[in-house]
Amino acid sequence: MQILTPNSLKDHSLLDSGNGQKLERFAGYLISRPEPGAIWNKKLSAADWNKAQAVFIETGKWRQTSPPPRPWLFRHKELTLELKLTPYKHTGVFPEQAVNWDWFSELINNSPGQPNVLNLFAYTGAATLAAAAAGARVCHVDSSKPAVSWAKRNQELSQLSDKPIRWIVDDCLKFIEREVKRGAKYDAIIMDPPAFGRDTSGKTFKFNRDMPRLLRLCHNLLSDKPLFFLINAYNVGHSPQTLKNLLADILPSDRIQYGELQLSNNDISLPCSLFARYN
Ligand SMILES: C[S@@+](CC[C@H](N)C(=O)[O-])C[C@H]1O[C@@H](n2cnc3c(N)ncnc32)[C@H](O)[C@@H]1O
Repeated sequence: MQILTPNSLKDHSLLDSGNGQKLERFAGYLISRPEPGAIWNKKLSAADWNKAQAVFIETGKWRQTSPPPRPWLFRHKELTLELKLTPYKHTGVFPEQAVNWDWFSELINNSPGQPNVLNLFAYTGAATLAAAAAGARVCHVDSSKPAVSWAKRNQELSQLSDKPIRWIVDDCLKFIEREVKRGAKYDAIIMDPPAFGRDTSGKTFKFNRDMPRLLRLCHNLLSDKPLFFLINAYNVGHSPQTLKNLLADILPSDRIQYGELQLSNNDISLPCSLFARYN
């Protein structure tokens, strides 16, 4: 089991966490938002926390003492990603995932030819763009039209408009069922499935119910010698071992690494997501 923490982020730092919240700097702008898992005590003073320029209050409501910079951009290597204060407390970037982007970018860079990568539950496109920048042909799938539009905007901001990316607004399960029927093949698959999600027609995705089928279908889509397979997941209520066991249903267990992505501020590390990855 591995604990992985990004160590070279210039546009994100975690300043503190505790009492159900986290205090972060995103590209020069300080925000505080809920982190239900942070049940320990804050380390910084109330005065430090009060420096937050935006505080998430409730769904759809941030209290701001000053607006975010314009443009408000998160940069990491080849990526330039637009940040926003969204109604559901997110910013459009999960900075801990830089560890994932860097890991597969190196694999893509070192692979001969142009690998074909499928990115499922692909949100605002950070992983899609990192894979494309490293030299992959990418198919990006997400059921949210606004998320796909945001991802396309990130493609422009990152000056990656000439890269071969197929943008699909669809339910991941429906899309890959069709891809299997069409005989499509991918050299690598990335996925960040939610505990619970909705497709374009309101049908639900449930991690516990749907992951085994999702992985079986993905297995049918893999080329003979897959380059990599990455599962990342937030708040699914499982151990990283569960992700590993799921991935081992379809790929050799001895080539799977698994663990937790964390953000760190020297004093304390904040558990963020689980991962299992094969290569
Ligand atoms: C946890 S977020 C992904 C975070 C992202 N990978 C990142 O690192 O920035 C989950 C995404 O899954 C999408 N989603 C939820 N249910 C879906 C479904 N059934 N089919 C396709 N996408 C879905 C949501 O629209 C959302 O963009």
